[in-house]
Amino acid sequence: MRDFTFCAPTEIIFGARAEERAGEAVVKHGGSRVLLVYGGESAKKSGLLTRVEKSLMMAGLTVKTLGGVQPNPTLSFARKGVLLALTFQADFILAVGGGSVIDTAKAIAVGAANPHTDIWAYWTGKSAVQAALPVGSVLTISAAGSETSDSAVLTDDSRKDKRGLNTPFNRPRFALMNPELTFTLSPKQLACGVTDILMHTLDRYFTPMQGNELTDALAEALMRTVIHYGPAAVQNPQDYQAQSEMMWAGSLSHNNLTGLGADKEFAVHQLGHELSGRFGVPHGESLSAVWGAWALYVYKEDPARFARYTSNVWRLALTTDIDSAARQGIDATIRFFTSLGMPTSLQQLLGRQLSSSELCELADKCSRGGTRTVSKFKPLAKEDLLRIYTAANN
Ligand code: NZQ
Ligand code: ZN
Repeated sequence: MRDFTFCAPTEIIFGARAEERAGEAVVKHGGSRVLLVYGGESAKKSGLLTRVEKSLMMAGLTVKTLGGVQPNPTLSFARKGVLLALTFQADFILAVGGGSVIDTAKAIAVGAANPHTDIWAYWTGKSAVQAALPVGSVLTISAAGSETSDSAVLTDDSRKDKRGLNTPFNRPRFALMNPELTFTLSPKQLACGVTDILMHTLDRYFTPMQGNELTDALAEALMRTVIHYGPAAVQNPQDYQAQSEMMWAGSLSHNNLTGLGADKEFAVHQLGHELSGRFGVPHGESLSAVWGAWALYVYKEDPARFARYTSNVWRLALTTDIDSAARQGIDATIRFFTSLGMPTSLQQLLGRQLSSSELCELADKCSRGGTRTVSKFKPLAKEDLLRIYTAANN
């Protein structure tokens, strides 16, 4: 085993009618004035918002609501949320929604606890978070894993710059997870979620770290579960067994259980964030569009690792040729994304190919103007990132 620190402080309440325990959970975690954040219309239409508000009122809490978070949530909206939290004197932020809503709630929580610092200073690494209000969530989509993660992703809408912030202060206090809440999702959103959940583990699994056998085995079991139940969840949104497996897989895929002791990799996420930042595409689609190009570019660093993935995750018979075995797993993954209706190239993602100047701009931004490399499995400099974007273009 490698040395690691593992902290998973989020209380999980999983199962039927979990959302009705919102009031009880906020009180338990010290809240009295709750800013309830939600997205577009889905939580209103389903009646979820009313049920959650009722639960908060019944617990004697004072509540203010803030709706309108959009997918790929923006810095400008989060800033408005900070002002509202300060005026209302919120002491707890409750997210009702998916990754976009939870990340906005996390940003508001950081901003409201640090009113003299603009929140973007934290997302750009200019300031370090020292305090945040507590956050809880009622999860409505299995995807981003924000309900347990230490991460929050925002887009500076004025500069089309999408950035993640990792800090222990981003860990939510609780997550209320009722799989039935995902029954109203569209097949496209479900497929994006399946892709993202798989990717959180793939982006940790391909690491130079060796010798964490149990961690690897947990990662492989999680990926087999996603591959098994993901298609069923997309085909039949009301399949409780499939949706509940996906919901739990989503949380475990991003609380770092599957990446213990390893350096943070996340190359595909970094590549994808530039696409979402620039073109506003859904997060899951930004990942499936580049994964194949990334995998084919890096697998020769450690073909045996990819061959193990082929065998242990896809259960495909290995050939004696390790290179072919590695490529079998890559092909199977790309076919899986296609079977879910996910794009596997930039052409499919955007409906057109990008020009060479657009590809260069993406590589430049992803490498922060050539000042950083991405990942440790194969450190990717600006030229490498450009080659991957170019390979993904067709
Ligand atoms: O706004 P509403 O009307 O609720 O519609 C949403 C939205 O359009 C809809 N939706 C959610 N639950 C629903 C529902 N529609 C019907 N029924 C329901 N039960 O789904 C759409 C997508 O929602 P969103 O919150 O954007 O999805 P997701 O959870 O995939 O979050 C994506 C965001 O999270 C970030 C992504 O980059 C992206 O910005 N991520 C956050 C991470 C983290 N904080 O740890 C890690 C991830 O890698 C990811 O980067
Ligand atoms: Zn993700």
